[in-house]
Amino acid sequence: MAIQFNFVSSMLILLLLSISSAKGQGGGGGGVIDVVAKFGAKADEKTDLSKPLLDAWKEACASTSPATIVIPKGIYFLSTATLDGPCKAPIELQVEGTVKAPADPGVFNEPKWIAFNRIENFKLFGGGVFDGQGTTAYKREGCEKHDYCDSLPINLRFDFLTNTMVQGITSKDSKQFHVNVLGCKNITFEHFTVSAPGDSPNTDGIHIGRSDGVNVLNTEIKTGDDCVSIGDGSKNLVINGVTCGPGHGISIGSLGLFKNEEPVDGVIVKNCTLTNTSNGVRIKSWPGAEPGSCSNIHFEDITVTNVSSPIIIDQKYCPWNKCKINEESKVKLSNISFKNIHGTSALPEAVKIICSATLSCENVELADIEITLSGPAGPAVSQCSNVKPKVSGKQNPVACSAPIGAKPTPAA
Ligand SMILES: *[C@@H]1O[C@H](CO)[C@@H](O)[C@H](O)[C@H]1NC(C)=O
Ligand SMILES: *[C@@H]1O[C@H](CO)[C@@H](O)[C@H](O)[C@H]1NC(C)=O
Ligand SMILES: *[C@@H]1O[C@H](CO)[C@@H](O)[C@H](O)[C@H]1NC(C)=O
Ligand SMILES: *[C@@H]1O[C@H](CO)[C@@H](O)[C@H](O)[C@H]1NC(C)=O
Ligand SMILES: *[C@@H]1O[C@H](CO)[C@@H](O)[C@H](O)[C@H]1NC(C)=O
Repeated sequence: MAIQFNFVSSMLILLLLSISSAKGQGGGGGGVIDVVAKFGAKADEKTDLSKPLLDAWKEACASTSPATIVIPKGIYFLSTATLDGPCKAPIELQVEGTVKAPADPGVFNEPKWIAFNRIENFKLFGGGVFDGQGTTAYKREGCEKHDYCDSLPINLRFDFLTNTMVQGITSKDSKQFHVNVLGCKNITFEHFTVSAPGDSPNTDGIHIGRSDGVNVLNTEIKTGDDCVSIGDGSKNLVINGVTCGPGHGISIGSLGLFKNEEPVDGVIVKNCTLTNTSNGVRIKSWPGAEPGSCSNIHFEDITVTNVSSPIIIDQKYCPWNKCKINEESKVKLSNISFKNIHGTSALPEAVKIICSATLSCENVELADIEITLSGPAGPAVSQCSNVKPKVSGKQNPVACSAPIGAKPTPAA
């Protein structure tokens, strides 16, 4: 008993000591760390924020008590930064200012500007802006071949993070994807904003791949490519309250292009609004190529306004004629629902469900669809191929009532 009492009381003393040292900003190194006040960062738009930020990160990450790094209001220049974990305690980055990237795409050695890597219990917040200054990059040729585009820096990379919150942050004019989420577990984007011109190439808003438990909530995305794109290995995603446009809509895929793709399983897209986008809600896979699977995908309570292809499953996705269009997709689609989707379509093909002839889509449901044409080109139509959807509620246009044209679907 005595030994146990001594052990407990000495633990208590240790605990009290560590609390008081954290409060006193002593050995714990936690608390609030201001990059300007403590590490000499300058909000002058030209002094590189990289070293002050990395120094602050080093101190905060080594702290045994929770730490918050603050980038105060002002405009900063940041060449590039990778913020690595693991950290000893929960860590936050509070960005109040605007952080600008080099405008010249040629100065980046890797396709990333700011990366967060292998951190647990991380929070990024504060109302700040990450400005990728992409205007010069947008004007360069070569994106359609894909190699040039893929080498451009992504504004924000979240790699292998667990329990992360990103709140009240803006990504502006990224040179490539705005956000890339890879290998994460339990990450939430809330009141996130993406802004880039409608004609900026390959600027997907939030791309998610190989991650489990990703939430994108109450987020506004204006960009030149998919607002949210979901790649292979994505599980348990919730996309709720996203407004999208301009942009290419909310997309799963493209799938089936690469070897060893992991299944997409469990995606709920709910309460979203799309305006002037080329697609609404979409699943796309390449003909021929590689096997894969995509199941338990639910699109619900979606408003579309002047959207070119509001509801689309496209298993003949073949931009830049990069595929064997006469082959069938090897990606198996099952348990897909479209419920309460209403608004206007800019093109007649409001509903288009083109499945693989060799696999066909299993358990597809269309419930309460009301889409009328926003332009003068005639009534909206609904087309289906290799699928017999379960139909309920209102159906305007009448489900699967129109023949399919011979031409393959266009790019993007
Ligand atoms: C998910 O992460 C958040 C922090 O963003 C945390 O509050 C929550 O407890 C985590 N959920 C689980 C199940 O670990
Ligand atoms: C629906 O989305 C809007 C944002 O567009 C949000 O304000 C609202 O809270 C969401 N509703 C629900 C029930 O999640
Ligand atoms: C949609 O496009 C039209 C025509 O270009 C424009 O007038 C309108 O403001 C756009 N709507 C939104 C919400 O961007
Ligand atoms: C609808 O979208 C088309 C192109 O997608 C655009 O040309 C047209 O101006 C838009 N109309 C309205 C009313 O927003
Ligand atoms: C499709 O849904 C049914 C019923 O909920 C379920 O039993 C089945 O496992 C699902 N299929 C896949 C591939 O997840």
